[in-house]
Amino acid sequence: MRVLITGGAGFVGSNLAIKIKQHFIGSEVFAFDNLKRRGSELNLTRLKQFQIQFIHGDVRMKSDFAELPEVDFIIDASAEPSVLSGLNTSPDYLIDTNFSGTINCLNYASRSKAKMIFISTSRVYPIAKINNIRFTENESRFEIDNTPGVIGCTREGITENFSVQGPRSLYGATKLASELMIEEYNEFLNVPSIINRCGVITGPFQMGKVDQGVIVLWLAKHYYNKSLAYYGFNGSGKQVRDILHIDDLFSLIADQLQNFHLYQGKTLNSGGGRNCSVSLRELTDVCRKLTGNVIPIEEVKEERIADVRIYLTDNSYATSINNWKPKHTPESVMKDIYSWLHENHKQLEPILS
Ligand SMILES: NC(=O)c1ccc[n+]([C@@H]2O[C@H](COP(=O)([O-])OP(=O)(O)OC[C@H]3O[C@@H](n4cnc5c(N)ncnc54)[C@H](O)[C@@H]3O)[C@@H](O)[C@H]2O)c1
Repeated sequence: MRVLITGGAGFVGSNLAIKIKQHFIGSEVFAFDNLKRRGSELNLTRLKQFQIQFIHGDVRMKSDFAELPEVDFIIDASAEPSVLSGLNTSPDYLIDTNFSGTINCLNYASRSKAKMIFISTSRVYPIAKINNIRFTENESRFEIDNTPGVIGCTREGITENFSVQGPRSLYGATKLASELMIEEYNEFLNVPSIINRCGVITGPFQMGKVDQGVIVLWLAKHYYNKSLAYYGFNGSGKQVRDILHIDDLFSLIADQLQNFHLYQGKTLNSGGGRNCSVSLRELTDVCRKLTGNVIPIEEVKEERIADVRIYLTDNSYATSINNWKPKHTPESVMKDIYSWLHENHKQLEPILS
């Protein structure tokens, strides 16, 4: 099996690359990345340790695809992944990478006769519609009401039937636009493909920052005794996300590589699910227990642009295909991140503190 991963030095890309190499004996894995994300360069040593060939390149540049090896699969995990991207600065980089970059990947896949797995996002779903879901509030979090009142939402979370009509952030729009083109190439241009709409993904080796990778950032700020803020929702910290451990994402991708025909042409939501969900307030408790540190957390009442109150993934469709289910709990996810942080605290301090 020969696999090329774009964004292969990033959090998702590097972890998938290493796990594929370990799991599929004899596989050849190529990691293609322009190292735009701060901290991705730290993954190069890991990639080398596992005999993964790093190719420095940019998905925006057609010419960078010309010399790439022929592969059986391309996993597109390169992106400007921040939901705030392009909202206060030029959206050029976002659009060129997340949309044009995907088209370049598709053309390469077509030439290579490769199958494509796309890491999309739950951010394709419109903000206003998510925030219209009926909810209840308890001491530590918002909950989806027993009767959510929006099509495509169950008590477990958002299904693939949720509407995609309405603004969703430029980031989400570039991903949705890419999804449309992937479907066209799948149907008319012989590029078999799978689209995974992932919720928050986290785990060791994520270079968390305020606008992306907040779960790792939350723990790191506790670890390094810094400060944080609950933004929006009245400064309550009750906003909820399900979190997908990178190992659980890998188990899904591994099944897709092995049983591609079961998933081909499908778009599926994949996330940690209700059992692996936390509010920021609950996350604070977990971080305090792990680090023993209590840090100042400001309560900022103003809403943050493009934020949503609750996002939970209803994984039933993904599970129905070949019985994939995430296994982690918030505690086990955070324990894994803590071990990584603790082992590498000196190296990570300038990036995560
Ligand atoms: N982390 C999450 O919570 C999450 C959730 C849903 C979807 N995703 C998607 O998963 C994928 C991976 O995200 P991540 O969390 O690993 O982010 P990341 O920033 O760690 O990884 C992305 C990688 O892409 C590289 N990159 C950026 N622009 C590039 C370009 N023009 N050419 C080549 N490489 C480029 C970066 O250097 C980085 O290494 C993205 O497509 C993202 O949209 C992530």
